Amino acid sequence: MRITVIGCGYLGATHAAAMAELGHEVLGMETDPAKLASLTAGEVPMFEPGLADLLGRHVAGGRLRFTDSYEEVAAFGELHFVCVGTPQRPESLAADVTQVETAITRLAPHLTRPTVVIGKSTVPVGTAERMAGLLTELSPAGADALLAWNPEFLREGYAVEDSMSPDRIVIGVADDRAEKALRDFYATVIDAGTPVVVTDYATAELVKVAANSFLATKISFINAMAEVCEATGADVVDLADAIGYDARIGRRFLQAGIGFGGGCLPKDIRAFVHRAGELGVEDAMTFLRQVDDINQRQRERVVGIVAGMVGELAGARIGVWGAAFKPDSDDVRDSPALWIAGQLHLRGARVRIYDPRANGTAAVAFPTLSYADSAVEACRDADVVLHLTEWPEFREVSPSDLADVVARPQLLDGRNVLDHDAWRSAGWTVRGLGRR
Ligand code: UDX
Repeated sequence: MRITVIGCGYLGATHAAAMAELGHEVLGMETDPAKLASLTAGEVPMFEPGLADLLGRHVAGGRLRFTDSYEEVAAFGELHFVCVGTPQRPESLAADVTQVETAITRLAPHLTRPTVVIGKSTVPVGTAERMAGLLTELSPAGADALLAWNPEFLREGYAVEDSMSPDRIVIGVADDRAEKALRDFYATVIDAGTPVVVTDYATAELVKVAANSFLATKISFINAMAEVCEATGADVVDLADAIGYDARIGRRFLQAGIGFGGGCLPKDIRAFVHRAGELGVEDAMTFLRQVDDINQRQRERVVGIVAGMVGELAGARIGVWGAAFKPDSDDVRDSPALWIAGQLHLRGARVRIYDPRANGTAAVAFPTLSYADSAVEACRDADVVLHLTEWPEFREVSPSDLADVVARPQLLDGRNVLDHDAWRSAGWTVRGLGRR
């Protein structure tokens, strides 16, 4: 099919390339001139495993093109996917849906034939209904310009894999024709056995925020347990292993540490709390405020623990491993690692950061911090080493070699994944979070 993807950030660029790979003709729409130039040249303006190859291949092969013209988008596509961002508003917890509104408002006047516009962005419940009204009102095609909501569940680091073989497809519609169009579009994925949930707009919108809220709750639950473990001499990793064997609970997303960050989980749960307030059901969502508070507390706790390890933060040398919010990504949005590094710096510590991929993005967000070219260089003469993003590379570093580089062999493992026994045998003092 001929489809367009409006907004080519993490979500849109991946969706565009993955749908080209599935055999569709794709036109991506991007208004940012720098991003547009790089995409047109077949280059991906961020790090995401497998994406550069996929996108480059389909741009070279001609199945994927980019533009900044809504007129061209409307003329080209049978289906239009809206993948623009919905960031947290600066002055409140609410999500800013301006980019979604702008996309619909600018596209609609060019829609002269029957078409389906599909929202993929994460939005406050009720947005789709409003966008459907806007579409009918502003399109020459009127009631033949249909809206569907088809949330995206891709994880950074696995975005290509998640787009090509999602674990479910959720379709929110108000008209059977839109459902049929999406079933035809995803035919190969559906034929491969992917479950499809067809529902109304509100449920489709809620599925996304409910899923992210559940994941965030799981992480904050285990981090709250980590605090209790520390107070009792228990071990949170053993605890997570043991409860994780219960199939009703499951071990995934029970990795205790410095907490969750990124462009989705934190802002989505806050926007959900805000929306619940508008809907008069804030009491039902009170727990999500606690989930957010527990998450924030992990970062603050680490700053306190580090202060205890070095004695005096002012002037202390701190080597930081990791800046991205998670491994296999260069994304530093709301990154707990970078937040902790920034706080330590503000309190007078001399912080040196190394991240295998995110030094560049981190330096844009925090230009006053200092960045090293290797894991070892970040730790030279350090009083303490902080392991804050669990890149595999850090597990390869030899604790005994590193002991010769630092001033004091002290490690704080903020992700609880290093081999603490091996580090202790090499003479290190090791702190985990919630560890015995
Ligand atoms: C998330 C959702 O998983 C995805 O379905 C949705 O579409 C977008 O938001 P993503 O932001 O890529 O994806 O990251 P995710 O893998 O969920 O991790 C989020 C954060 O939680 C990271 O900072 C990660 O380090 C942290 N995390 C994850 C933990 O602290 N412990 C865990 O056990 C799991």
